[in-house]
Amino acid sequence: MQTRRSALQTIILAGVAGPSLLAGFPAVAEEVKSLKAAYKDDFVVGVAMNAAQIAGKDALGDSIIRAQFNSISPENCLKWENVHPEPGRYDFVVPDQYVAFGEKNGMFILGHNLVWHSQVPDWVFHDDKGDLLTRDALLARMQDHIRTVVGRYKGRIQSWDVVNEALNDDGSLRQSLWYKIIGDDYIAKAFQYAHDADPEAQLNYNDYSLVDESKRHGAVALVTKLKEQGIPVATVGMQGHYNLDWPSAELVDATISDFAKLGVKVAVSEFDIDVLPPATSQHTADVALNIKQNPTLNPYANGLPDRVQKQLAKRYGDLFDVFVKHRDVVNRVTFWGLTDADSWKNDWPVKGRTNYPLLFDRSGQPKLAYYAVIRAARK
Ligand code: XIL
Repeated sequence: MQTRRSALQTIILAGVAGPSLLAGFPAVAEEVKSLKAAYKDDFVVGVAMNAAQIAGKDALGDSIIRAQFNSISPENCLKWENVHPEPGRYDFVVPDQYVAFGEKNGMFILGHNLVWHSQVPDWVFHDDKGDLLTRDALLARMQDHIRTVVGRYKGRIQSWDVVNEALNDDGSLRQSLWYKIIGDDYIAKAFQYAHDADPEAQLNYNDYSLVDESKRHGAVALVTKLKEQGIPVATVGMQGHYNLDWPSAELVDATISDFAKLGVKVAVSEFDIDVLPPATSQHTADVALNIKQNPTLNPYANGLPDRVQKQLAKRYGDLFDVFVKHRDVVNRVTFWGLTDADSWKNDWPVKGRTNYPLLFDRSGQPKLAYYAVIRAARK
């Protein structure tokens, strides 16, 4: 329990969104505390850090991260294309700063991610002549990458998203080049290599839309098989790229229960709630999607109406109620970005929109949703 008010909390108290919006939240405004303090007995609360925050070029952002969160994820700097852009060349400048930030602030540090079909250069799958690699050659390359990156941060990055988004919506394995060249055991191999490189690290399978029935069944089957083979998968990361009316709290609740039965922990690994009209009927977070801009898809360019602000707050509160209910199995809730200005949701799946998916507004002030999340911890 925090007794002294930090400078940030004073800012928060001074900067509340206005009396009408805070109706129903007065007690919280009086006794506001940080997200990490509010959930300290339940799970760690994380945030994805972008390049500016890691480089120390966003002083306000960094101060909010230090005050509010006790876990960090790297939004992009540890993805293959950034950390290993060319054969034999690794770039650890930004990742080193990222890990140093987390260590300095005593945070639970994530690695994201090792094996994924996106943000991985083409050369990874080809030889010098441009032909696809053989299974053995790609396995060797994967092992070299994992050993080098995980090994460098052994004992310092506590948890790795080893394989990201391996499943199709129907629950079958995605036909990525990893799958096509290596076969379905590429997932088990990736976990084994990561475990060999840092036996203490908590290893995660991470994916989106795991609440949807077929995909959830696919994930349950995948984790079951890995566990039967003795592969050390510790946590299922439910990315949590949600919107105002999907998925229902009941669905999230049921999904967490299903994974809990497998004997793994659950992380909500990339949480945000899109408030804009859906540009696609698919439940997807596929970063390759790029839908054409159209003014009806961007209705809040000049500000979020109070009505939607309240809807977002209620939605955040309802979902945190579910996470708290499952506090024995949920080990982390990580927001995919700090402020609304930082969010990838401004440019995905439609470029150039103005979205409001996070707890802090564009000037770093806590939104009504922030108070709803704090209040969900107080019951
Ligand atoms: C996103 C980042 O937020 C963007 O900056 C980047 O341009 C694309 O990737 N699922 C994931 C994350 O696992 O790595 C993605 O992050 C969002 C979807």
